[in-house]
Amino acid sequence: MKSFNIAAYISGSGSNLKSVIESSLSGKIASKVKLVIANKEVSGLDYPRTCGIETAVVSRKLHSREEFIKIQTGLLDKHNIDLIILAGFLKKLPVEIVREYEGKILNIHPALLPKFGGKGMHGMIVHKAVIEAKEEFSGPTVHFVDEIYDNGKILLQKKIKINENETPGSLQKRVLEKEHEILTEAIKLLEGNE
Ligand code: GAR
Repeated sequence: MKSFNIAAYISGSGSNLKSVIESSLSGKIASKVKLVIANKEVSGLDYPRTCGIETAVVSRKLHSREEFIKIQTGLLDKHNIDLIILAGFLKKLPVEIVREYEGKILNIHPALLPKFGGKGMHGMIVHKAVIEAKEEFSGPTVHFVDEIYDNGKILLQKKIKINENETPGSLQKRVLEKEHEILTEAIKLLEGNE
């Protein structure tokens, strides 16, 4: 069974990241989160910091494009990263990194792709669109990342039935609970497959 050195990219509260760190600490998965990169100072950086995990804020606003790539590849190399997780990361990963880590990058999306994905489809916007489309089901998708938003091969999905009086807020909460399960399951699946 394989154990990965994980780097997580985040843009928000980092509850998905927290679920992965907890799964690692409790031994549900063998892999370890070694590095967390955010595109700005976000609350999701607090938990990994309390666990002693290296964190970094890397933004195109702070660096030239060359520096921006170099800082990230430097950190990924330093920690021998062999699995990247986009855990609520709302920016596009630089194409250089997508190519270097092909087949080793996972994204979690809060809807059943290929529906309700693509540029600009994130967070509550997705849940609103799902409710407006009167879908019967929703649920998270974990997929491999390629150069196009939400386009790569699907690894896992979890379906939940949408309730009659469901709101975007209630759906977000219910899908998020499933996200926390599915992300750990996806990593376990990859560990078993290696
Ligand atoms: C999650 O619902 C995740 O699926 C979504 O952002 C949220 C992050 O929550 N990602 C996207 O919409 C990507 N298109 P978290 O910061 O609490 O993990």
